[in-house]
Formats: sequence, structure tokens, C-alpha cells
Amino acid sequence: MTDQKATLNIGEESYEFEVRQGSVGPDVLDISSLYKQSDRFTFDPGFTSTASCESAITYIDGDAGILLHRGYPIDELAENGDFLETCYLLLYGELPNKEQKADFVHRVTNHTMLHDQMIKLFSGFRRDAHPMAVMVGVVGALSAFYHDSTDITDESQRMVASMRMIAKMPTIAAMAYKYSVGQPFVYPRNDLDYASNFLHMCFAVPAEDYQVNPVLARAMDRIFTLHADHEQNASTSTVRLAGSSGANPFACIAAGIACLWGPAHGGANEAALNMLTEIGTPDRIPEFLERAKDKNDPFRLMGFGHRVYKNYDPRAKIMQQTTHEVLGVLGKTDDPVLDVAMELEKIALEDDYFKSRGLYPNIDFYSGITLKALGFPPEMFTVLFSLARTVGWIAQWKEMIEDPKQKIGRPRQLYTGPTKRSYVSLDKR
Ligand code: CMC
Repeated sequence: MTDQKATLNIGEESYEFEVRQGSVGPDVLDISSLYKQSDRFTFDPGFTSTASCESAITYIDGDAGILLHRGYPIDELAENGDFLETCYLLLYGELPNKEQKADFVHRVTNHTMLHDQMIKLFSGFRRDAHPMAVMVGVVGALSAFYHDSTDITDESQRMVASMRMIAKMPTIAAMAYKYSVGQPFVYPRNDLDYASNFLHMCFAVPAEDYQVNPVLARAMDRIFTLHADHEQNASTSTVRLAGSSGANPFACIAAGIACLWGPAHGGANEAALNMLTEIGTPDRIPEFLERAKDKNDPFRLMGFGHRVYKNYDPRAKIMQQTTHEVLGVLGKTDDPVLDVAMELEKIALEDDYFKSRGLYPNIDFYSGITLKALGFPPEMFTVLFSLARTVGWIAQWKEMIEDPKQKIGRPRQLYTGPTKRSYVSLDKR
């Protein structure tokens, strides 16, 4: 809280509100008493100026291009740490020491299997189902299998549910992939690290030996780290809103996955790769740039722009470096999609339309190219995002449930429909 007060004048009336100060970032006007005081609501569709909660997990300064998890810059975490360390940090608030890390890795690694009955669920889906549709269904179904961790009032059950989801999400995602390509499921191998095990479950087949390339496993791990959390984005807010009613954590994460699926959110990397492929060759870039600027054309440059970052997305920088490492190892540096991406980035960054609106490449601009090179089809891109974001959703969900001031999320509205009128019987309409 600061000593400052904010005053709102409406005609002759005047209302006072507290100005709250976070540890860093803009001050916040606490208008929670507005309705009680003034019988009025605020109007902010899209939450462009509204803080929906108090959180100590992730901080973003979009103008400066900064992303911190519990205070640690994302580039330091991605370059020096690993995904499970970041998971621990998000969940517990501090980086683990050696013993804590070993214990955490052990707990995740030993919960990777799925209840055998769950595996039968997959065969109920059409083979050509989008794997995100399968994810929404199967993750939601976790609550039908793990009854002993759905009591949200029990701290230990909350943690068991959290560990289960972090551990099982790679298995579910890999099975969704295997099912879509008609290959047998590959069970988790607990002797492999998190990312290697995931690549193994996706790309190994019973007929031959599969060795995970450590550079590619490191790239996969880094992609997971870069996507682990991003404060109150649409899917995280969805998880919080679903959880605010007291819904069980598995159902809440399934809601987050559904929200992430949209092309303006997690679906953007798939859309960005499709767009780069459609552009095809660098000489066609000006034509697409003109379309992106034309207000009568719905086309947007996918992988560009961000609600929060009006500067270079700090994750995009690391992603770009990871893309080059992966393409180098796989000997795909002459990929035409990459040529288009590099050229498009260069031209757009010099273009007044993009410069004046603070539109920079976001993480999705590069992640699609990298995931394609790793062997994933575009439909799997958002699945991988959901796998990685699960820890962020869980950390945010736990923070909300453990907040004694937590209330059900229930926005108000500006009603513009008809006022009260009498029912007209069918023969008179
Ligand atoms: N291509 C062309 N013009 C754009 C783009 C774009 N990708 N993004 C924004 N603009 C323009 C927009 O038309 C508007 O112009 P004007 O001021 O003349 O009306 C201005 O920039 C501001 O855009 P906005 O729609 O008000 O911005 P927003 O904060 O509501 O939208 C966004 C953010 C990410 C939805 C949007 O930039 C977009 O659709 N980008 C493409 C999709 C994409 O890459 N999404 C991934 C986001 S990062 C991953 C994640 O966090 O999920």
C-alpha cells in the first residue's frame, strides 16, 4: 500500500481508493470497493488495464522485454538451469539445493506412468482428432482416475495432484501423438531425464533402437523452460477462474488447455509455421506484409506482436539461438522456411507499421520452426506448449487456492440487451 489515494469524481460525487504498490511494476488502484461505494462498475473487456489477482510468481515488463520467474531472468534459467529446476522454482518459490532437486526429480520421474484404464480412453477418439482435443479430454479425465488427489482443501493432495500432472503430461502428450500417427504407445523410461524421456516416448518404435540426441534433448528442455509460465495470460486466467469455483485441479488444467488451443494464444506457433510455409519464398514477403497492414484484410503476421511485450520478447531471443543449434545438429540450415523467417523478421523490424506499434517477433515465431525440425507435426506444437505451461498453471492455481482472501471470480457486465418485456405467445409472433 502507498500513502497515495486515487480520487474518482463523477459529477458532484467523489470516491477514494487505495493505491497499491507491487515489489516492481506499475502501481495498482484498488477499486474493489467501487460498486459498494458508487453503485457503478468499471468496464475493461480484454482486461487491458485490470490486474485480476495478486501474484508473487512471474513478472513481465513488456516495454523493457523482461521476464522474471520468482525474480530470476528467463534467459539465466534457460541457459544455466533446466526445466525441472524451473518447475521447482515456480512451485516452491526458490531454486532447489542439490538434495531438494534430486528429491523433486525423483518424485516427478516416478509418477510418469498412466493408470492402465486411462490408456484405453485414447482408442475412443478418431485417429484424425486434433491432439489438443485429445489432451482436453484425457487431462480432464485424470480427475476420474486419481480420486485421492482432488480434495483441494488438503495441502498434501494439492501437491500430489501437482506432481502427478507435471509427471504425466509428457506421457499423455506423447500418447496423443502416437495415437494420431497410428504407432504403438511407448511407455515412459524412468532412467531418462524429463526431455529425453519425452522425445523417446514420441519417436521410439518397438522395431528399432532409438537414441536420444543430447543436443536435441537440451533444446526440448529449453523449449519447455521458455514456456513454463507467463503470468496472467488467457489460459492461466482461465485456470484461475475455473479453480476459483473450487473445481478440482485436473479439471482446471483441462480448461487451461482448451483456452491455450486458440490461434491468438498457444496455437500461434502452428499458425506461424503455416504462414511461413505459405509465403514459401522471400520474394513473396512484401505481398504478405501489405496484407498484414491492410485493415480490410483479416490476415495478421502470425508470431508477431504481443499483448504485453511491446519490445523484443526475451524468450524469442533464446528460441532463435535454440533454433540454430537444432538446425545445425540436424544439418537443416538451408531450410527454406527458415530463410523466409529470417528475411521476414529483418524486413518487419525495419518497417514503420511494425515499429510504431511495437510489433516484434514473439516466441512462437521461432518455436514452430524448431519443433518441426525436431520431427513434430504442426498439430503437436500447442500440445508441447500445454505440457510445458502445466507447471505455470499449477503454480498459479495453488497460489490462488492458498490465498486466504480468495473469492470466486465473477466479472460484471455492461448490459446492452432489451429491457424487461412481456412474453409473446407463439401464435402472435
Ligand atoms: N500483424 C499485423 N498487425 C498487428 C499484429 C500482427 N501480428 N498484431 C497486432 N497488430 C496491429 C493491430 O492491427 C493494431 O493496429 P491498429 O492500432 O492500427 O489498429 C495494433 O497492432 C495493436 O494490436 P492489438 O490487436 O490491439 O493488440 P493485442 O494486444 O490485442 O493483440 C496479439 C496481441 C498477440 C493477439 C496480436 O499481436 C496477434 O494477433 N498476433 C498474432 C498472433 C500471435 O503471434 N500470437 C502469439 C502471442 S505470444 C504467445 C502467447 O503468449 O500465447
